[in-house]
Parts: sequence; C-alpha cells; structure tokens
Amino acid sequence: MPQATYHFPRGFLWGTATAAHQVEGNNTNNQWWKWEQEGHTNGKSGLACDWWGGGRWREDFDRAAEAGQNAHRLSVEWSRIQPEPDRWDEDALERYRVMLRGLKERGMTPMVTLHHFSDPLWLYEKCGWEAEEVILLFEKFVRKTVDALKEYCTLWCTINEPNVYALSGYVTGDFPACNPGLKMAMQVMAHMLRAHAVAYRAIHEIQREARVSYAYQYRPMVPKRSWSPLDRLMRNLRYDSLNMVFPSGISTGVMKTPIGKYQIPEAKGTQDYFGLNYYSVDTVWFDLRNRKALFTASGYPEDADLSDTRFIANLPEGLFHSIKWIAKTYPNLPILITENGVEDADDHIRPRYLAQHVHQVWRAVNFNWPVKGYFYWTLVDNFEWERGWTQRFGLWALDMETQARTKRPSADLYAEICKENALSSEMVQKYCPEVMDKLFPV
Ligand code: FCB
Repeated sequence: MPQATYHFPRGFLWGTATAAHQVEGNNTNNQWWKWEQEGHTNGKSGLACDWWGGGRWREDFDRAAEAGQNAHRLSVEWSRIQPEPDRWDEDALERYRVMLRGLKERGMTPMVTLHHFSDPLWLYEKCGWEAEEVILLFEKFVRKTVDALKEYCTLWCTINEPNVYALSGYVTGDFPACNPGLKMAMQVMAHMLRAHAVAYRAIHEIQREARVSYAYQYRPMVPKRSWSPLDRLMRNLRYDSLNMVFPSGISTGVMKTPIGKYQIPEAKGTQDYFGLNYYSVDTVWFDLRNRKALFTASGYPEDADLSDTRFIANLPEGLFHSIKWIAKTYPNLPILITENGVEDADDHIRPRYLAQHVHQVWRAVNFNWPVKGYFYWTLVDNFEWERGWTQRFGLWALDMETQARTKRPSADLYAEICKENALSSEMVQKYCPEVMDKLFPV
C-alpha cells in the first residue's frame, strides 16, 4: 500500500458552515417560517438544532473544536436583530456576541454571513428585495450588526448565494417570493449587488482590517449531447444566468443578465476574497416544456455517483475547475471554499465525497492558487429549506425529537484532516478505501 500525505499550507482554515434559520430554531419572524406554515416545505424548521432557545450551539462548537476545526462560518438572523423596522433587539446582538466569543474561546476563527436566505417578515411584507428601498435597509442592518460584533470577527460575508436566492424564489418557485418571474429575479439580484457594494464599504468604514465578500454557488456545466447546438446553447444560457450575473457586476461594474444589463459601477472590485460554494456539476439540455427556466433543464449523468436524494453527484474535478475559473478571473484574490458537502443519512458516500473534494483543493493549492480555507456543509443535520428534513448534510446526525447528536464516520475522517492539516493515504484507506486508487495511484 502506498503511503503518502497531501499537506496543506500552515494556517489553512478548516471548519464547517451553518446558517441561522437552518440551525437556530423558532425563527418565527421571517419569511421562511411563514412559507413553512403554508406547507411549501418538506417539514418545518421547528426547533431546528436548537441553537437559540436551548443554546445548543455550545455543545456543537465543542464538537467542532474537539474535532480539530479551527474556523466556523455562521450567519446572523436579521429578523432577530431587527424584529420591527424601528426596533433593534440588543439582547439578540448580545447573544451573537456570546456565540462569537464562544468560537474564539475554542480557538476557532469566526466568519459571519449577514444574509443567508432569510428576511424579516416586515421586509417580506413589502416584497423584500424587489424594491430599491431594501438597499438602505440592509445597510442600516449591516452597520448595526457589524458595529456590535466587530470585536470578534473580521471575516465577513455580506450575502449568501444571491443567485440561488433569486432563481429559487423567482424562477423555480422553491423559495418564498412576492412577484415571481425572470425579470424580477434579475432585479432582485441587482438590488442584492447594490446592497452588497454599500455593505462592503460600510463594513470597511467600521473596521479597517475587515475582509469582506459574498458567497457564490458556482456550478460548472456541460451540455448533455455535446454534438447538439441546442444543448450547447442552453448550457451557455443557463451558465450565464446562474454563474455569471453577480461576478460580471463585481468585475466590471456592469451586471450582465440574459435579459439585459444593469449599470452598477459602485460594485466594481468589492471583494476581498472569493467565497465559493461548490456542490456538483450540471448536465444541461434543451427542454421545450421548461419555459420558466428559459427552456433549459439540468440533471446528472446516468452513471454518476449520486447522493441519497439524487440532489448531488459526486464530481470532485468540478471543484478544481471552479477554483481554476476563480484564479484565472481574479488573479491573486484569496479564495475560501465557503460550502461543500453532500446529503447522506447513512454516510456511505460522504467519506469519499469529502476526501475527493479535499484532494481537489490540495491540487489547486499546488498550482499556487490562493485557497485559504475550506468549510464543510454542515456540522449537524439541519433544516434544508424547501427540502426540509429530507436531506442530512451533517457530520453529526440529529434526532429532531430528542435533539441527540450522533457522530457519523465522516466526522472522524474530517477531524483527522483538520488535525493533521493534511489528507493521507492512511485516512483514505481507513474511511473510503474504494477511492484509494483514484487519490493515491501508484
Ligand atoms: C446551499 C445553501 C445552504 C445549504 C446547502 C446545501 O445552496 O447555501 O444553506 O442549504 O446549499
């Protein structure tokens, strides 16, 4: 058996990522809660991982720290911090301060996301991100929050996956949205980009050493039949709509969308790192029935290594290609893998998914592309939006009735990676020998 070790640079950040609504529980004052009560989701968030009422973040941070993680990405819940337009909840801010201090005390670097899919109900009632007014409202929220938390955090993510928020809400109808449609999806993204730019400057004003960006779900795509001009066309259309809208605005100050351009000059250059959420690669084809999605449809190759609910295909090279795309588009910009993971209740695919993706990060690091950290999605099973509780992404399983956590083997594999700051052949042999010849060929 070969014995080899892929080492990572000193100071590499290893952690997991979470989002407020998915873990806190009883977030009754946001639009997702309403959406859940109306029956649009597969189960309701309820107590979630009970981070808020039961303070179970403590035990979960203990788990993460004991497992060698030196960083954690979490999000704050706008509807808790600003429960009504003219009221700030200082106690909620204090709770977040305690949580961030909790990370520091455990030797973990905190990363805070300011907006991760959830909006206060009062904002949703006036159609949230559809109207320009949201930009100023977001700025006020960001100023208040960053000012309160600045003692404990310098790594900020303004908005999580504006592309997924806009397209899942306004095009596919999976997320709550006021006035759906493609045009509105693009308008929402334009408002998010303007709000991001304003927040970027506000945070730097408040904290000179801040590092600010957004997290983006980038999905490599291939046409289903490479010989088909229609499939190729649809692949490009979908690629541009999902992957290029926000980055085009950040690169040039002109946000390019499939239905027109938005001049947002103030957005140009507003990123101190690239936050990449990578899950899989899409196969795209022309589908006459899918008018809503501009006649595009997507799926995975028939022989793909599929997850539990077929939500994710294990295609690790896609992570390498995504990092390469970032490194070529934004030379020298630090890169953080802000999410990567797979849903897998019995942990049969996760160990290899994890090892194979970490291996691709290592390959990228060896091209001298500045990848600085990796956040696995996620620490403990959580509430997965419209898919609710049908998907189990956690390194730890959650029993929602009892709130008991059970460690999955992948948690041990990840702990070894974090502690060694490396991926070794012994680890692969122990946790996912089936990919030994892929990761350590001789
Ligand atoms: C991403 C979201 C995250 C989680 C994962 C599985 O799109 O940012 O909240 O739901 O997918």
